[in-house]
Parts: sequence; C-alpha cells; structure tokens
Amino acid sequence: MKFYKKNKCRICSSQNLELILDLGEQPLANAFIKKEDLEKVENKFPLRLFLCKNCFLLQLLDIVDKEFLFKQYLYLTSASKPIVTHFKKYACDIYHEFLMKKDNPLVIEIGSNDGSLLQEFKKLGTNVLGIEPAKNIAKIANDLGIPTENAFLTYKIAKKISIDNKAIVIVANNVFGHIDDLQELMKCVKLLLKDEGIFVFEVPYLLDLIQKLEFDTVYHEHLSYFSLGSLKKLMTDNEFEIFNVKKQKVHGGTIRVFAAKKNNFKPRKYVEELIDYEEKFGINKLETYKKFSDDVSRLKKSLIKELKKLKKEKKIIFGYGAPAKGNVLLNYCNIGTKFLDHIVDTTPLKQGLYTPGMHIPVKPVKILVEKGSQQVAFLLAWNYEKEILEKENQFRKNGGRFLVPIPFPRLV
Ligand code: TYD
Repeated sequence: MKFYKKNKCRICSSQNLELILDLGEQPLANAFIKKEDLEKVENKFPLRLFLCKNCFLLQLLDIVDKEFLFKQYLYLTSASKPIVTHFKKYACDIYHEFLMKKDNPLVIEIGSNDGSLLQEFKKLGTNVLGIEPAKNIAKIANDLGIPTENAFLTYKIAKKISIDNKAIVIVANNVFGHIDDLQELMKCVKLLLKDEGIFVFEVPYLLDLIQKLEFDTVYHEHLSYFSLGSLKKLMTDNEFEIFNVKKQKVHGGTIRVFAAKKNNFKPRKYVEELIDYEEKFGINKLETYKKFSDDVSRLKKSLIKELKKLKKEKKIIFGYGAPAKGNVLLNYCNIGTKFLDHIVDTTPLKQGLYTPGMHIPVKPVKILVEKGSQQVAFLLAWNYEKEILEKENQFRKNGGRFLVPIPFPRLV
C-alpha cells in the first residue's frame, strides 16, 4: 500500500475537517527522475490541506506510505551551507545552556539525515546517536562516524534503544511535521529522554506559511503545519510542557521549541505571549485560511504572467535551486521546460536527474555570467535568497536578475 486517506485530525481525532487548499495531483516533491525513467508513469497523489475546526491543526490527510517516501532520500542537509551554519550555532547554544555541565551526556537526534547536526555536538564532546529511516543517508552518516540507527522511530525501536541509551537532549529538526502518529512519537520521546532532559525541535512556523504565502512548503512529506498553540496541546496531552520558544530564520520561518517532562523547567513568559499573538492573528479562525487559499490562487496567476512577460522579452530563464518546494510550485503552476531551460543545484545526488512532474533537467551550479543581462534565475530556493544573492553577486553585476516567487513575484 502506497497511499491512504485519513478522516480524523492527527492531534485531537476530531472529524470536523475542512478543505482549505487543493494543489492538485502531484508527484512526490523529492522524487527526481533518471533520464531512462522519463517515459515511465509517475506516481501522483492528491496534495490537499485540511483544517481541523476543533484544534485548528492544518494538515494533510492524504497520506503516502512512509516506507515509500523516506526509504531512499535525496535531501542532504550538508548540501545547503546556510543550514550547516545554522546547525553549528544551534549545537553550540544547546551545549552551553544544557549540556556543558553534564557528565558524559548523550544527544539523540530523530531524523538525523547525514549527521550534520550531530557532527557539531560530537565536536563539542558529547555522545551522539542518530535515528534516520533513509538507508542511503543513514549510511553516509555512519561512514562519517556518526552512529546512526537506520529505522523509523517506533515504540518498539525506542524501547530497544532506550535499554542502553537515555538522552539528556533529544533533537528533532524539520521532522515533526513528517510524522503521522504524533502520539506514538511523544511516547518514544518520553522513553528515550532522561527525566531531567529536554526535547528540542524545530518546525516550520504556520504563521510564516500564511503570512508569506509559502504554499510550496506544502508537500506529501509535510503532514502537519504547526502553530505554537497546536503544539502546546500535543505536549500537554503527553505530560510534556513547552518552556521556551525561539524564532529562527531557516526554511522560510521556523520555531525552535523547548519542551520537557512537566514541572522541570519554569516556562518563559514569551511562550504564552506568542500563543496570544497567534490568537489575535486569527489562527483559530476559518476566514484566515480561506484568505490564504485565495491569495495562493492569485499568486499562481501573477507568476505565470511574469514568466510570460520575461519570455516575450527574450530572456533565458533557468531555475536556481531544485528544492522539494520548487517542485510543488512548478507542478501547481504548470511551469515546465517551456519556461525553464534547466535548473541548477548544489546537491550532487540531484544533478543529472529531472524534476518530478515537470521533467526539467537539474545541473550543477555553473552560470555563464557574461550572458548576464539576458538571464533570469527563477529562485526556487527562495529561503536562501540572501545567501544566494550574495554568492551570485557577479551575475547580478552583469545584469542578470533573480525572480523571487513569493509572497509575490519580484525581480531583484
Ligand atoms: P531546501 O530549501 O533546504 O529544502 P526543501 O527541499 O525541503 O525545500 O533545499 C534547498 C535546495 O537548494 C537544495 O537542493 C540545495 C540547493 N541550494 C543551492 O543549489 N545553492 C545554494 O546556495 C543553497 C543554499 C541551496
């Protein structure tokens, strides 16, 4: 079985659900294709966002089987330098606040990818253990000396690991939203975490998704889109407490949430302040989501209009970055090789392949700067706008332009 439909909310089990945004039938956003497989029929699945009108969790209910989604994976943390920098600081901050004075501490990471974050903890002298379901990626981490259990975290696996390993810190970055059974996840965390330990995780922030129209971050891997309010409910249900939250710039706007078993840490005032802010923003109102959906349809129209205009001006347009989110955007807006010649990306595993759905070739980043003014780089990796613009300074000096797609198309 590759796909199933759910009919109740992932946090509160309510069946009071409303369709908010329909992005159509889409291939998996990371399912890049080899040249010899281009003629094969691609698997496509509905990509639709639903709102639970009871606890206001925004979520996918069309679920692609995780074995199929994550067993082989092309996303490598280490391919994006800004994330590596983010992780360096992340490990350093956690170490100084929570680990420095501990005896022989262990950090466990759920969804540890190629071990980029654990590598940083290891450098600081802590013991580390990764849990990563993608076989190819867990192997990369193990080869780099980061002990990594190649498995999906289930209660059974957690029990096995916890016999010899209890962590003082558990980290989970950008993985919380990937997990269908959040209640089981919390049971695993409870088992693997020492009583005085902390659970730190980063999730893309729902308010950023709505405010900046980051609709392309919606894809089959991302099952839930969290506000702090919805996370609080999940934590409380599992006898955990959120004691701090810090906003981060990565992935278009993320929150780093600090949780612990109840009554271990005094919650900072900011936690409740942010929940109040969310309520004032309208996070618990259906109209907020309806407006978001209308704005996304408008954005699609204006993007196509802009690309047509650039083509008329005889510009050479190519994609910059082949992130999963880029594929969602291209498929939803039906932007194919008619507009984009090719896409450049730094990930070796993606180079030489074709994008799912639109079949645009992915190439290494090599830009003919001398052609400058004729070229427009469609910035699909818009979350790295600052870093990429800095890096491609010469391209812009020669008259090349970037087209940033969200929250509205703009040439920079
Ligand atoms: P990312 O936004 O991290 O993830 P997602 O796939 O979840 O949407 O992906 C960014 C992509 O952009 C990744 O394939 C690497 C690529 N990239 C570049 O090509 N050049 C760069 O300078 C950076 C920062 C990323």
